[in-house]
Amino acid sequence: MIRAGVIGATGYAGAELVRILTRHPETQLTLLTSRQYQGTPFSDIYPSMSGVVDLTCESYSLDRTIAETEVVFTALPHKLPMDIVPELLTAGIKVIDLSADFRFKSVSSYEACYQPHSAPEWLKKSVYGLSEINFADLQQSELVGNPGCYPTSILLPLIPLLLAQRIHPDSIIADSKSGVSGAGRSLSLTTHFCEVYESFKAYKVAEHRHNPEINEVISQTIGREVHVTFVPHLVPMSRGMLSTIYADLTEQTTMDSIFSILEDYYSDHRFVRICRNRRLPETLRVRGTNYCDIGFRIDQRLNRIILISAIDNLVKGAAGQAVQNMNIMFGLDEALGLDDVPAPL
Ligand SMILES: NC(=O)c1ccc[n+]([C@@H]2O[C@H](COP(=O)([O-])OP(=O)(O)OC[C@H]3O[C@@H](n4cnc5c(N)ncnc54)[C@H](OP(=O)(O)O)[C@@H]3O)[C@@H](O)[C@H]2O)c1
Repeated sequence: MIRAGVIGATGYAGAELVRILTRHPETQLTLLTSRQYQGTPFSDIYPSMSGVVDLTCESYSLDRTIAETEVVFTALPHKLPMDIVPELLTAGIKVIDLSADFRFKSVSSYEACYQPHSAPEWLKKSVYGLSEINFADLQQSELVGNPGCYPTSILLPLIPLLLAQRIHPDSIIADSKSGVSGAGRSLSLTTHFCEVYESFKAYKVAEHRHNPEINEVISQTIGREVHVTFVPHLVPMSRGMLSTIYADLTEQTTMDSIFSILEDYYSDHRFVRICRNRRLPETLRVRGTNYCDIGFRIDQRLNRIILISAIDNLVKGAAGQAVQNMNIMFGLDEALGLDDVPAPL
């Protein structure tokens, strides 16, 4: 059994990790940390875990973490992981960081939208944890920068078409909608019930921190700098993310040809589902699962493709993809612990 710890277990992403790892057949959950809830049983914080998780939260200690774990998931706000991750790696512990601290290859891109990086030497060694895309590199990795939820939903549909040179990279516009849990569990006015319920708004238009992350990955994929237009929206639901992505096609093409590219690319990966029979992705169909559903239409008048993807921001967008990455790092089936039958509703 792989002994696993979750640092920042009481946040939404951390709690989702606890949920998934609890029933993972090759993992033993040995350590949960929290500042505010140290000494509190995890099931007192999340009562749905009563009789399921019997661990008590403790404050973070390097020595305890070294003694208790082989792999650690850091589910902390950015800036905090970069201070603790290097010493964990030096102690031989594998780390999957859910924050932005180890997602970027370019230090200057990270520093332009976050803050000075205190461990830039680890950026070169970390692998960007978009599981299906970077599978081979993840098998060799000891540090994973788990992708942001918006980038996951945008990059998975785009990358096969960019590699096949079927879309103009400079024409991409991504319009995404996220459930409120994407903002985390901390209290804030913008996620207050009365501010969110029965409302729908764009925010951080063309200045969201996931924009440079998306740009960097697409630029690396095609070998030149690209800037994507990205507009995130907040929708009044607790979890789920839908992205609508527009791009000009490089040539007249058929639906069948696009289906072939997407289906061939993801043929070995069960968590990316290409929607057939005129079905388009919906957040309800991926809720609580590690699936990314992808559908599309072609507007023949404009020779433009409209891609639509749906994920659960807390699962494929965070904890589920993190566990998928752990499976890949440890040479396990990538779906272990993640292949529960989805709820029909
Ligand atoms: N929510 C999502 O959909 C999502 C998706 C992808 C990636 N992520 C990333 O995952 C990480 C965690 O996100 P989250 O949504 O789970 O956030 P969250 O709900 O706010 O949880 C943050 C966790 O970090 C702990 N923490 C420790 N030191 C902290 C500090 N100084 N300030 C605030 N919290 C501190 C908190 O517990 P204590 O305060 O008790 O220590 C809590 O367990 C973030 O880096 C986020 O960008 C989140």
